[in-house]
Order: sequence, then structure tokens, then C-alpha cells
Amino acid sequence: MAQLLNKDDVRTARCGEFTAADIGKEVCVMGWAQRQRDLGSLIFIDLRDRSGILQLAFDEQTDKAVFDTAFSVRSEFVLLAKGVIRARGEGAVNKNLPTGEIEVAVRELRVLSTAQTPPFAIEENSNVRPELRLTYRYLDLRRPDIQKNIIARSQITKIARDYYASQGFIDIETPDLIKPTPEGARDYLVPSRVHPGKFYALPQSPQLYKQLLMVAGFDRYFQIARCFRDEDLRADRQPEFTQIDVEMSFVRQDDVIAVTEGFLKKLWKEFLGIELETPFLRMEYKEAMERFGSDKPDLRFGFELKDLSDLVKDSEFKVFSGAVAAGGSVRAINVKGGAAFSRKEIDALAEFAKSYRAKGLAWTKMHAGETSSSFAKFLTPEENAAIASRMGLEDGDLILVCADKNQVVFDTLGALRVHCAKKLGLLDPHDFKFLWVTDFPLFEYSEEENRYCAKHHPFTMPNADDLDLIESDPGAARAIAYDIVLNGTELGGGSIRIHDPEIQSRMFRALGFTEEEAKAKFGFLLEAFKYGVPPHGGMAFGLDRLVTLALGLEDIRDVIAFPKVQNASELMTKCPSLPDPGALDELSIAVTKSEDDE
Ligand code: AMO
Ligand code: AMP
Repeated sequence: MAQLLNKDDVRTARCGEFTAADIGKEVCVMGWAQRQRDLGSLIFIDLRDRSGILQLAFDEQTDKAVFDTAFSVRSEFVLLAKGVIRARGEGAVNKNLPTGEIEVAVRELRVLSTAQTPPFAIEENSNVRPELRLTYRYLDLRRPDIQKNIIARSQITKIARDYYASQGFIDIETPDLIKPTPEGARDYLVPSRVHPGKFYALPQSPQLYKQLLMVAGFDRYFQIARCFRDEDLRADRQPEFTQIDVEMSFVRQDDVIAVTEGFLKKLWKEFLGIELETPFLRMEYKEAMERFGSDKPDLRFGFELKDLSDLVKDSEFKVFSGAVAAGGSVRAINVKGGAAFSRKEIDALAEFAKSYRAKGLAWTKMHAGETSSSFAKFLTPEENAAIASRMGLEDGDLILVCADKNQVVFDTLGALRVHCAKKLGLLDPHDFKFLWVTDFPLFEYSEEENRYCAKHHPFTMPNADDLDLIESDPGAARAIAYDIVLNGTELGGGSIRIHDPEIQSRMFRALGFTEEEAKAKFGFLLEAFKYGVPPHGGMAFGLDRLVTLALGLEDIRDVIAFPKVQNASELMTKCPSLPDPGALDELSIAVTKSEDDE
């Protein structure tokens, strides 16, 4: 039977907070039994809470009834113990434990609640299937390493709130039931009962509201905001996630960047004790793509892309010359140390390349003075020499070549670069290389929709020099948009916004909205812009990613208390689920297809 607490059942401190300085003190402690060791005339129980572990000791001096209770304790029972802190006996000191020199000589022990045997041991780094962990997430969250992550997240949001408040930002909540805001992903829709057949969208971000707060004169806005995006999940993506969301008036790109760097500097200092050098490196999008094949380059290692097109454009080897003739290119990376990869490993790299739509992967390597190559026999000695020279081929090197449309070449080599660095163990998660990527393209051509879409979002200001390109050459127009990148991950992004209704209308037109569609979708914004709108801009961090990287982790699920799995369901509560009968009627909704029918 579960027990209630009495008036004098007050915890003295958390388990991990006691030290040798407390020896002789009367204490009351509560927590979970990590394990019980029965040595016959002696029983030890490790009592655990979020702060750590404290040893409870029972021996010949212990009252018989208390000793018997201790005997009955199993893992994960919730206990209350009262007694005196004493030094552990000779040889019983555990140097690995902060409380390893002390124990509680227990006088009173109560089982506050019993526990079934948990489906997995509650301990650090225990090797448990992710599905099982997430089904019993409340037990998984008891594990000290996960608990540490969740507590770290709380510390990081506090540092964010303190920093932005100190810089004059006002924390304002924006609604979660809204008209759709386009950020490029699919919306989650919420049906309205009061307005049959009509829907709210959950925000993909507070984008339009924060801009309207600038129109309203708040000047500096900040929010820790939940965002919802119905998109394919990966290790760094969840359907609901959190942004540190910021907007500022009367600013240029440099002002937003300076405030953001101030935050990261403070965070790294206070949280990790690391002094970051600011300003961070900046790189234009175009340069990032050409040198790293990515708009979020990982700068912890080299392997930069080199263009070989001019060397092979007239080659007899049609794989190379054909790609150049078709308007694409031939580019390569030099994987230092990659010559040690076996044939099988190189074949696996080619398979990896194919998942980025590459038609093949050509390679040359120099191992112990011997050169071998998948393509040298198709080229002239001069062509081979020119490639070796441009790539700086040395012993130990593996050169990977991709010939295709530019986008495929960039995607493939950009991904291979990181893949090989990981294979070679070059990625130290505690080496932090920050980078601003700037001057993003304004538009991105969507093959699917057969039209230009906004690369960031439709409210991003075009570069002043590129205004004419909106109509004449949209693909070449640059935006005043910037991403903050850390070790190959996009931590956050933002832009200076359009505050001129005329430019905004031109953007909507270029994106394929008719006047009526633009009015129906964003009429309120265009209307607001008629009443005096300050120049403004801002950005948003992905908080989950920020915490993940600051902790040197890889999966954002490790810093989210209750994350969803790959197919967007939550295993513990089993949602999404069928609504109660009647609920759909009330919403005037009929289901035409259900996965349960299949
Ligand atoms: P953007 O769409 O680039 O910009 O999002 C900002 C940051 O949010 C994080 N993020 C995600 N994190 C986890 N799961 C997801 N599914 C996910 N999607 C995005 C990323 C990303 O850099 N309104 C603009 C910001 C602005 O212009 O001020 C916006 O939302 O770290
Ligand atoms: P093949 O003539 O098809 O036997 O190809 C010769 C070499 O070129 C092989 O190593 C292929 O993997 C490689 N290859 C084929 N297509 C491409 C491509 N688009 N880019 C780079 N290498 C390629």
C-alpha cells in the first residue's frame, strides 16, 4: 500500500547533496531504491534521486522491524529513510561516487510505494532498444544521463531568457491556433467545432505574428515557441519542436548577427566554460556550396570540393565530359587517410553516393606508393596528372569524383565528405566550429510543383542589388537571409524582412500567387504594412538542436522529454489514435480512410 507523508517527513536534502561535512547529522531522505544488497547480517540500499545516490546501511544495531523492511525492498521501490550520516567503514569507501565516503545508519525506513521489476535497468548508457525506452519513457527519464540532458535543457532556456531580457527583448506569447504560415512544411490542421468544415493550423513558426508585433511597436520580441511541422523525421527533426524565436525592429543583418553571437558567447561561457571567439566566420551560400557541397558546412576538417570540369571537359571519357557538356560539372574531394579503405568499403561509398542520386562514384587512391583507380584507364596520362595535381594527391589519399548535375554533385560530395570524416573518426563533438552562412538564394525551384518557392520564407527581403531579378531571373536573386551553422548542423536561421508592401506583392506574384490568393492568405499582413512598418528582421534557433550540440549528442530525442518516433507517433500514450465516437460528428468530419482498415 502506498503511504502518505506525515508532517515531520521533510527531506533534509537530495541524496547526492550530502558530503563528509554532514557526518553526525540526523537526516530524512527520500528516493528510489537503485539496488539492495543483502549480505546476511548487513543490508545496503543505494537510494537514488535526480541529484545522485546515497547509501543506506542496516546492520546488527538496526531495529529488527526496520531490518526486515530493508530486506523486503526491491529495485525502484520509493523509500523514506531517517537516520544519522556516518563515515563508511574501512574499505567500503567508493571513490567513484561523490557521496562514496558516507552512508546513512538508518533508524526508520518506510516503503512509500512498491514497484514492479522495470522492463530495463535504470542506469546510465544501458543498451536498450529505443522503442522500449520510449514506451516506458518515464522510466527512461529516470536514467541519470537522460535526466542530466533534460536538466541541462532547462539551464539553457534560462540562460536564453536572461540574455534576451537583458538586451531589452520582451517575451510575448503568440497563438497556437492560427491561419497557416508557410515555412515550407505541411501544416497540422485542427478542426473547428464552431465553424463546421473550417480548420486552424498549428504554427510552423510564429513568423507572421512576430512581424506584426514589430508593426505594433514592441521593437524587440522573444519567445520560447513550440512549432509544428508535418514533415519526414530524421535524427535532427521532430514534428513538434521548440524555437528560441527573436524579432527586432530598426535593424540590419549585422545587428541581428551581433545579438545572436552575444547569446552563443554567453551560453558557451556559462554552460560549458568555453570562451568563444566572436565575430564568427561568415561565408556566402555560393562559396559554402562550392567548397563544401553544403549550405551547412562542417568546418572541423578539410576534404574541400575541387572543380575538375575544365580538366576533363574534352575527355574521351564520356561519364566526365558528358556531364560537363550537359551543363553539370565534375568535382572531387580528397579524403586524407581514405586510401586505407578496402575495396568493399569504397563500394559501400558508391552505394552511399547513389542514395544522393549520383549515377556512380569514381575514385583514385595512393596506398604505399601504389596508385589504383576506377577511371585512370579511361583518361590520358596528362588528364590523370592534371587531376592528381589539382587534388594534391599524396600517399594515403583517396580521391572521390562525382560527375553530374551541379546539385547532385554538391549533395553527393557534401554528404560523402562528412560520411568519410565520421568513418575516419575526425568528428570531435566537443570541437565547436561556428559559421554564418549568408546571401542565400531568394527562391528555390521546386521540380514537384513546377514553380519557384521561397528558399527561407516569402517575407524575406531580397538583396537590394537583385530586386530586378525577382521577375527576370528569380533563380539568381539573393536574399538577406542567414543561417547559424555549428559542426554541419543548421542551428538557426533568419532574415531581414520585406517591409515594403510593393516588394511583398512582387514576391507573392513571383511565387505564383494571384492577387486574390495573396489577399486571401496574407491580406492581414499587407493591410498591416499600410500603417507604418519599421524595417525589421530576426531569426530562430532550433532549441532542441542547440541543446543536443552543446551537450555533444547526436539525436534530438535525447534532449526532449517526450519525443515522437520516426513515423510521428508517440509510443507511450499511443497517439495519434482514433477519436471517441461522436467527436468527429461534432466536428462535422467523416473519415474516408484509416490505417486500421488496412
Ligand atoms: P527555420 O524554418 O529555418 O526558420 O527554423 C529555424 C530553426 O528551427 C529548427 N528546426 C527544427 N528543429 C527540430 N525539428 C524540426 N522539424 C525543425 N525544423 C526547424 C532548425 C532551424 O534552423 N520563422 C523562421 C525564423 C526566422 O526567419 O526568424 C523559421 O522558422 O534549427
Ligand atoms: P563505367 O564506364 O560505367 O564502368 O564507369 C567507370 C567509373 O566511373 C566507375 O568507377 C563508375 O563508378 C564511375 N562513374 C560512373 N558514373 C559516374 C558519375 N556520374 N560520376 C562519377 N563517377 C561515375
